[in-house]
Amino acid sequence: MDTQLLTASETDIAKAAALLRAGELIAFPTETVYGLGADATNGAAVAAIYETKGRPSFNPLIVHVPDIASAQNLVIWSDEADRLAKSFWPGPLTLVLPSAEGCTVAGLVTAGLPSLAIRVPASATARRLLQATGRPIAAPSANPSGRISPTSAQHVRDGLGGKIAAILDDGPCTVGLESTIVGLTESPRLLRPGGLPQGAIEAALGGPLAMAGTAITAPGQLTSHYAPSAKVRLNADTAASGEMHLGFGPITGDLTLSNTGDLREAAANLFGALHELDKTGKPIAVAPIPMTGLGAAINDRLTRAAAPRE
Ligand code: TXA
Ligand code: MG
Repeated sequence: MDTQLLTASETDIAKAAALLRAGELIAFPTETVYGLGADATNGAAVAAIYETKGRPSFNPLIVHVPDIASAQNLVIWSDEADRLAKSFWPGPLTLVLPSAEGCTVAGLVTAGLPSLAIRVPASATARRLLQATGRPIAAPSANPSGRISPTSAQHVRDGLGGKIAAILDDGPCTVGLESTIVGLTESPRLLRPGGLPQGAIEAALGGPLAMAGTAITAPGQLTSHYAPSAKVRLNADTAASGEMHLGFGPITGDLTLSNTGDLREAAANLFGALHELDKTGKPIAVAPIPMTGLGAAINDRLTRAAAPRE
């Protein structure tokens, strides 16, 4: 693929926004690091993020919005969220809040969790892009999995050139460190240290932050997160009596991840399908999924779902 190099001009931002709305991936500047953005409401586009980065598993992603009002449409707002957002947005702070009823963000963004990580970046170029796109944008750092986060357009080009539709170049990132993540689903908790110092957040809250322990920073830590309550059996060509069958490719099942065997479509459908089948209260048998491309991350997630529970 030819990767277009775009600038922060009006025309180029409109081009980047159109590509995002069409489901393409765009690397864009934020004050922290360059993000690999996709329309967060488009499951297949979000799946392409994992595929392009070569991530071996589905970590939940941060959603970027242009202002507080846009955030309030997606999450259940609280007094603490209000205080932190008014003090530090736009800026290098991500808040984890319960997803709002009818939240339009794809299940793959949150990896099936009932909460959503969200932030308003300080970069004016990023906010102009978000404004022009008119959709929440999911974005991890724009580097291949296991490599260092990019703080310039050249870094992005070195790692992902030829693999994404465009790179929006707005010079080097001013912060150069990922955003600080604060969890607000219970008492305020520091989930990841980052570009905004802990002390500033505690001063705004008027009290100490609880310390992490629950941050999802490594793939393995996802084990304790979303898993269906039903028993899950893998590599099942057929379902036993009483089981619900989740199909793939030629195996139709009661519900299919992708009847054409498209792994991107399967990734986009994965968490929704598990939730759906889980509602039946029956054990779930899953058709074999190849280990190629996104199949590795899909199988990683399914293996966790099938593992004995603590
Ligand atoms: O500075 C940044 O935050 C950059 C730029 C591009 O905005 N983005 C970034 O995204 O660092 P990423 O994907 O590398 O970080 C996502 C992290 C996850 O690893 C996890 O720790 C946390 O955010 N996270 C996301 N959703 C969560 C949730 N619902 N609950 C707890 N943690 C969550
Ligand atoms: Mg990263």
